[in-house]
Amino acid sequence: MNVPKIDQGSFWMPRQSSTLAPAVDAAWDVVMYVSVAFFLLIVGAMAWFVYKYRRRGPDDKTSNIAHNARLEIAWTAIPMLILLVLFFIGLSGYVNASVAPGDSYEINVTGEKWLWTFSYPNGTVSPSKLVVPRGRPVRLVMSSKDVLHSFYIPEFRIKHDVIPGTYTTLWFEATEVKDSTLLCAEYCGTGHSDMMATVSVVEEAQFQEFLESGGDDKNMPPAELGKSLYTTWGCATCHSLTGARQQGPSFKGLFGKTETLADGSSVHVDEAYLKESILVSNAKVVSGYQPIMPVFQGVLKERQVDALVAFIKSQQ
Ligand code: CUA
Repeated sequence: MNVPKIDQGSFWMPRQSSTLAPAVDAAWDVVMYVSVAFFLLIVGAMAWFVYKYRRRGPDDKTSNIAHNARLEIAWTAIPMLILLVLFFIGLSGYVNASVAPGDSYEINVTGEKWLWTFSYPNGTVSPSKLVVPRGRPVRLVMSSKDVLHSFYIPEFRIKHDVIPGTYTTLWFEATEVKDSTLLCAEYCGTGHSDMMATVSVVEEAQFQEFLESGGDDKNMPPAELGKSLYTTWGCATCHSLTGARQQGPSFKGLFGKTETLADGSSVHVDEAYLKESILVSNAKVVSGYQPIMPVFQGVLKERQVDALVAFIKSQQ
């Protein structure tokens, strides 16, 4: 799929592209460096003591060290104080990341095998591409159509499970105009590693343009629009253009073929069959494949279905 690479950030971390990122990284730094300091202290002391109190012969009694109350209180109390500090750093960050500002812009997110779809309040539906305005808090209301997925944007430092039958939420405020990558971070089947989307942060004016256009280019010829939909709607995850067998049949030479269905009957691949297979995807599944394709009835527009059919026809 055509998804941009995760941009280079620091040695440890991806870029910080949301208002939440600096606090998340600061908390990570504190935990990291406290751990490094104690690792050196503890392992260093251990190595030194192994050497210093080594047994020097059969009559050596120096290694019989007794209980020391003051020392034990110290090495209990000091780590406890450090853990309390870490707890409050974590708590304040968690509360901040959990509660979206009241004026947040709301976008619905749907995860399914293996596609992310974003629905905007004005009815615009955008597959595989989350377009958001810069400098404005965005609240995501997320659900899954099938299994557990996990919504993860490394550069924003946000991640949350997406669960069938309920809603989970996340919020962020993007700080940079740029494209980054959304990943699925919960193993969800063979297409899991391809379940990505582009996160496109734009200025408010471009965002309004995107909403008005419905996320679609009106001037493209059908086969060309179909080609771009093939990528954006995630068809490429399961249908190759090379003849290679993936989760679904390849589009190469598909049009005009006669396919055998699971029940033994056969079907001629014409425009009507392609259209039915896109809209009510599992009505007539070709023998040897699983009925796993998402349903696009009520999701794709008429013109988009026509464009996809034209594109598949052109793959000879
Ligand atoms: Cu969806 Cu992994």
